[in-house]
Amino acid sequence: MPEHIETVNSAPAGRVSIGGVERTFPMKDGARTVLRDLTLDIAPGEIVAVVGPSGCGKSTLLRLIGGLDSPTAGTLTLDDEGVHAHDDSTAIAFQEPRLLPWRTIAQNVAIGLPLGTKRAAGKKRVAELLELVGLAHAANQRPREVSGGMAQRTSLARALARSPRVLLLDEPFGALDALTRLNMHDLLLDIHRAQPTTIVLVTHDVEEALYLADRVLLLRNLHGPATDPIPERPRAKVVALGSSSGIGALGSARAAGVTQEHQTSARTTNQSIARVVPVPGIRPRDRGARTFTDLRTSLLDGLGAHKLTIKENA
Ligand SMILES: Nc1ncnc2c1ncn2[C@@H]1O[C@H](COP(=O)(O)OP(=O)(O)OP(=O)(O)O)[C@@H](O)[C@H]1O
Ligand SMILES: [Mg+2]
Repeated sequence: MPEHIETVNSAPAGRVSIGGVERTFPMKDGARTVLRDLTLDIAPGEIVAVVGPSGCGKSTLLRLIGGLDSPTAGTLTLDDEGVHAHDDSTAIAFQEPRLLPWRTIAQNVAIGLPLGTKRAAGKKRVAELLELVGLAHAANQRPREVSGGMAQRTSLARALARSPRVLLLDEPFGALDALTRLNMHDLLLDIHRAQPTTIVLVTHDVEEALYLADRVLLLRNLHGPATDPIPERPRAKVVALGSSSGIGALGSARAAGVTQEHQTSARTTNQSIARVVPVPGIRPRDRGARTFTDLRTSLLDGLGAHKLTIKENA
C-alpha cells in the first residue's frame, strides 16, 4: 500500500437502515411505484453493490439514502437518525464527474469540504486527498486538461473531502475505459482501507460488483416484463475472512460486529429486492476465481441475461 494512504483521516463509517421503503412518483396517467417494501440494513464499513435492470430504481434508492429524495412510505436512517439533504455525513458521486470547468482540480476537490472548514485545514485535506487519488501533480490543472479517469478521481476525492460516513456511488466507473476502470476498482479499495466508509455502489457491471462488494443487492423492476422466479443457486463457500491487507470481503463487516448470518438475514420478502448475495473471498479478489462462477451466473440470470442467450441461440 502506498505510504501516503495512511495519512488520510478516518471518520467512523455509518450504519444505514432502510425500513419498508416505497417511492411512488405521480405521473400524468396515475402514480408509478418504483420501489416498494424495501428493507435492508447496511453495516458500518460494508460495501454493498446495487445491480438491476435499467429503470428498476437503483438511482432512486441512492438518492433516498443520500436524503436527496424522500420516500412515500417507510424509513431511512443513518446511525439511527433520519437522513436529510445536505448532510455532511453522506457524499455522492455520479457517472459523470460534474466538475466546475473554470476551477482547478484542487479547487474542485475543495468544494466537497464541509462548510466552515478553516483555510489551512482545508488546504491540507485537499492535498492529502489529491495524493490519495494520485492527482497531486495535477492540482493546478483545469478539468479540460485532464483525462476522463483523472476527472473521475477528482470527483471521488471531492466526495471524500468531508470524510463521509456513507459514500454513495452511482455508476462511478461506467464511462471509463476498461483498464482505467480496473485501476479505479483498486483505488476504491485502497480508499476504503484508508478511510473505512460505508459504500453503496450502483453498477451495471456484475464483475465490478463481485470484485468490490461484501454483498450484491439485485433489485427487481416492478414495471418490467414479468420474470420467472430467480432460481436459488448454491452459495459458494466463504473461503476466508479478513485479509493480509486488512479489508477482507467480509472483514470490514466483521470488524463492525456483523456475522455472516446477519449479512444474509436481509434476504427478505422485499418486493423490490430480488436477491441479496453475500460475496465470499478476500479482497483484493482474484477476478477469475472459480468461486464466483455460480454467483456471476445467478446475478446475470437475475438481470435477464439468460433470456438473451436463449434468443441468440434460437
Ligand atoms: N422524479 C421523477 N419523476 C417521475 N419518475 C421518476 C423520477 N425519478 C425517477 N423516475 C422513474 O423511476 C424509475 C426508476 O428510475 P431510476 O433512475 O432510479 O432507475 P435506475 O435503476 O437507476 O435506471 P438506470 O439503470 O437506467 O440508471 C424510472 O422509470 C424513472 O423514469
Ligand atoms: Mg440510474
